[in-house]
Amino acid sequence: MALRLDTQPYWGETAFPSYSKLDANVRADVAVVGGGITGLTTAFLLAEAGRTVVLLERGRCASIDTGHTSAHVTMVTDARLNELVDRFGRAHAQAVWDAGFAAIAEIERLIIENDLDAQFDWVDGFLHASLGNKDDADELDALKQDASLAREFGFDAEFVEAAPLVGLPGVRFGSQARLHPRAYLAGLARAFAGRGGRIFEHSEASEFCDDPMSIKVNGHTISCADIVIATHNPVVGLDNFFSATMSQTRLALYTSYVVAGRVPKGAIGDALWWDTADPYRYLRVEPHRDFDVVIYGGEDHKTGQVEHTDTCYRNLEARVKKLLPPIELTHRWSGQVIETPDGLPYIGRVAERQYSATGFAGNGMTFGTLSGIMIADAIAGRKNPWAELFDPGRVAVTRGLWDYVKENADYPFYLVRDRLTAPDTYSLRSIRRGEGKIIERDGAKVAASRDDRGKLVMRSATCTHMGCIVKWNSAEQTWDCPCHGSRFTPGGRVISGPAESPLAEVEE
Ligand SMILES: Cc1cc2nc3c(=O)[nH]c(=O)nc-3n(C[C@H](O)[C@H](O)[C@H](O)COP(=O)(O)OP(=O)(O)OC[C@H]3O[C@@H](n4cnc5c(N)ncnc54)[C@H](O)[C@@H]3O)c2cc1C
Ligand code: FES
Repeated sequence: MALRLDTQPYWGETAFPSYSKLDANVRADVAVVGGGITGLTTAFLLAEAGRTVVLLERGRCASIDTGHTSAHVTMVTDARLNELVDRFGRAHAQAVWDAGFAAIAEIERLIIENDLDAQFDWVDGFLHASLGNKDDADELDALKQDASLAREFGFDAEFVEAAPLVGLPGVRFGSQARLHPRAYLAGLARAFAGRGGRIFEHSEASEFCDDPMSIKVNGHTISCADIVIATHNPVVGLDNFFSATMSQTRLALYTSYVVAGRVPKGAIGDALWWDTADPYRYLRVEPHRDFDVVIYGGEDHKTGQVEHTDTCYRNLEARVKKLLPPIELTHRWSGQVIETPDGLPYIGRVAERQYSATGFAGNGMTFGTLSGIMIADAIAGRKNPWAELFDPGRVAVTRGLWDYVKENADYPFYLVRDRLTAPDTYSLRSIRRGEGKIIERDGAKVAASRDDRGKLVMRSATCTHMGCIVKWNSAEQTWDCPCHGSRFTPGGRVISGPAESPLAEVEE
């Protein structure tokens, strides 16, 4: 008899703190509606900026689309890079990918600064041909073009004749990432509460008023100065604004399907994969101590337009079993992705003191995070490089020449973009959790290791006894000196001599 798979998402097994229902009138600077990645990130960033913030969630946080994601964390958009260049011009195409990359960097910052256990790691991503189009010369040209455009825009990318696992031609994009969405957001929710933020679950925003600005919830009133609608599928706000500019007719809802199962530890590399079929299929790994979980998705169709949705799961199951025969399937689930006519999300101001974010297609981890950055900037009155590009009221993105790097040189992301995309940063990102590597920095040897939470620790690799270069001991997670046996912790403290002083600190 066929095993009945769990129809809950694989992430559902991870506990999430619970929050009470709103049962009194409340006042705050900002009310955020929706407790997925968009709402929680926005709420946290606003609280970090010193605002009082209330977050309302109709059901439980991180359980709708963010709870059904596959959590590839990437700047590689569903719309191919060469298509973005054709549609919007080079500068805008680069800006779209810069925005995604800025979001990945922001996720890492939030994890490090708040010590979140998000199972985040930097990994390579492979966009590759499918069996159906692998011999199509146009497809190969398009892949090569994507690789060279990405390099031209300063990203780590190369065309490969055979992507790992699938053996098909594709592009390797460095510095992509993966995380556990519920673990990440559970930590972010706690960090938000730690900054005085208030979350109310089972609290549906049912009515919006602008005189005074307020939301009705469970028969109570939230009074605020600004409202952020982070419900993915937008609800109607003040002035009926959404029905004019963000109406359902401008958004296309697709259902995407996922299956997941166990494979032996290390059976495939730790990376992200997408093929170029239409609809495309996506795959990634979630590592565990003794085994890996492979997450495989695709079969997207317009919501409500396929009668036998079971077939979508069966197709995915058959494909993933062919690719990875030892897989033991355990879970299957589906959820919605929302697309816009031009392939770019709608993020920003939709009415006086009202903001919204939607249309992320398959990039909700990055665009949801970016929404938090952009809306926090808008509320603070700070100029944001991507505000016009993703403006919900845009009619068309103009192809004018716009140098994002020069125009926004003083914006925090553009101040550090060169460092974030520099090759020696790639080598730091290649260090996995629990791993140490000797790397070169400004001509000096550095002992760099990552702890189990993903935090990078760097010390001089020069042993303080007589100057030999230490080596990583993976079993003990220590730096050991091959010359006379001194041993050091990852943070450089002496465990045993002859060395007497710690490994020297280096600038991180
Ligand atoms: C199968 C699948 C695979 C995906 N894979 C990826 C991927 O690999 N990488 C990636 O980047 N993206 C991926 N996505 C897309 C991504 O998951 C979504 O874009 C993202 O999670 C949307 O986040 P959100 O916070 O905007 O919405 P949601 O997570 O849906 O959160 C919105 C919240 O608003 C609440 N809400 C709605 N109305 C109200 C109301 N009136 N009052 C109070 N609360 C309300 C809802 O209950 C919900 O919790 C995938 C999506 C699916 C379905
Ligand atoms: S140089 Fe390292 S122990 Fe002597």
